[in-house]
Amino acid sequence: MEVDHPTSKMRCLSFLSFFVAITVLARVQAAPLQIPDLTQCEIASASAAAGTPLTLYFNCCLPIPSTPMVDFSFDKYQTVQEHIRRPAHTASEEYIAKINKAYKLMKALPDTDGRSFKAQANLHCSFCNGGYPQKGISGNIPVQVHFSWLFLPWHRWYLYFHERILGSLIGDPSFSLVYWNWDDQVSGGNKIPEMFTRVNTSIYDEKRNPNVQPPVVVPLAATTAYNQSESIVTNKNLNNMYQSIVTASTATLFMGGAFRAGTDLSNSTVINAPLGGGIENGVHNGIHYYTGDPRQELLQNMGNFATASRDPIFYAHHSNVDRLWNVWRFDMPDGERFDHTDPDFLNAEFVFYDENGQLVRVLAKDALDSQKLGIYYKKATSDDLWINYDPPAKTNVSAVPAAIASGVPYVGESPLNGTINIGTNFSAIVKRPIEEKPSKSLEVLTIEGVQTVRDEFVALIAFVNLPGAGSTTTTDSAEYLGTFNIIPATGKNRNLVATVKYEIGDNLKRIGIQKQEEVVISLVVTKSNTTVTIEGLKIDYEDQ
Ligand code: C2O
Repeated sequence: MEVDHPTSKMRCLSFLSFFVAITVLARVQAAPLQIPDLTQCEIASASAAAGTPLTLYFNCCLPIPSTPMVDFSFDKYQTVQEHIRRPAHTASEEYIAKINKAYKLMKALPDTDGRSFKAQANLHCSFCNGGYPQKGISGNIPVQVHFSWLFLPWHRWYLYFHERILGSLIGDPSFSLVYWNWDDQVSGGNKIPEMFTRVNTSIYDEKRNPNVQPPVVVPLAATTAYNQSESIVTNKNLNNMYQSIVTASTATLFMGGAFRAGTDLSNSTVINAPLGGGIENGVHNGIHYYTGDPRQELLQNMGNFATASRDPIFYAHHSNVDRLWNVWRFDMPDGERFDHTDPDFLNAEFVFYDENGQLVRVLAKDALDSQKLGIYYKKATSDDLWINYDPPAKTNVSAVPAAIASGVPYVGESPLNGTINIGTNFSAIVKRPIEEKPSKSLEVLTIEGVQTVRDEFVALIAFVNLPGAGSTTTTDSAEYLGTFNIIPATGKNRNLVATVKYEIGDNLKRIGIQKQEEVVISLVVTKSNTTVTIEGLKIDYEDQ
């Protein structure tokens, strides 16, 4: 027995290290994002290598108030009044005067005040451009609230406090933001709202795209040239809404995939590459790109996440994104849809300033019900147009035989393919699952390991059954799957490794090739001097 003693001690030790290892792994692999240490600010940077290499530094560090951070509770932040957000293009002169006054006061606050316009803009800049390393994680991995399931709840909280601050500055607790109804292709919402174009007002920003000033319709995804006729642009817009919201019926497809403590956008593996949802990667990024000023190095202000919220139109843009989250949840013809239920989603922590300039700690799960936060949206009847959009098919027979004859390669799951450079366009034959589709699931295309350096704006567009698709191929048809609008970014977050997913079953049915065993997938890149690579293509069934 004596002899056993050292051995059992050793066993104990190795058990101990085993448990330590498990705990460490558990921390890295399954834990929600935590609030970073706000004293650990790094200067966020943004680089542009298109043309002359250039790095712009943005000091997005947040002011730290002298009072300690408080936890959000519905009791503490009770809504005395409902906040009813209306379409910006229908705003009254009285409202326009009011919002201008509120922003004027916000802009007049000192930068050291968390309620100031500068500090408000910096909240966005620092949590998307490498301002703060994640807490409790080694390796200096930045907090990132884009490209994942964090996107919708973080931005909803952001608007919630921003709106409360504006209201308190003008002494009107019912003050509400407006939404830029860019998805509205019938009653005028799809242009930059006139109220934001009045020069010398506090909601005007001169750094905007001169090519999309009203009455030009703002396109929702790249490849739409500025000089196209309005009906062409609006049909493309309707299909972009349809593909990124209506057929994206799962939480993953619509709002994006997991971002946990330790998720690293720049350095992830194909397996862990973060995934933005259709609402974010598609139409939301499209609006950022088209509103940003192409005369600026990095499409400032809206076309770059470091500067986007320096333009007051940002908050109207995001009110629409926020509204569309509710539309996706409750107003789709196939019934109610559901958010993620993963604890790492629900318990993700964020920090904001309230109307007293106090830091507040909030959780993603408390943002899931907007009405509980007192936020209401005036119903837009124009939604019906894209909800019921019926994309026409350009083709009606499988393109596979011709593709095989012309040497189009087969591509499967990563890692068997190595790294594939898309060039400006690339087509592949992809096998579909052989088993019958379970009734409660969707057929989904996954583009694995998309990689690029975000020095300039580039879009990755996906089509099915259209080999030979290029950057001028129209995106209003059933062959169009969606666009990943890749916004230029920063030093630390320049390198992007991402996953992209599109529902594809609806497209195949519309074309009439839903019985085929394989399909042709084509990817198009809008810039010839930006390299975009992928590691694989896969079609499988995913649960609703
Ligand atoms: Cu945080 Cu519209 O981006």
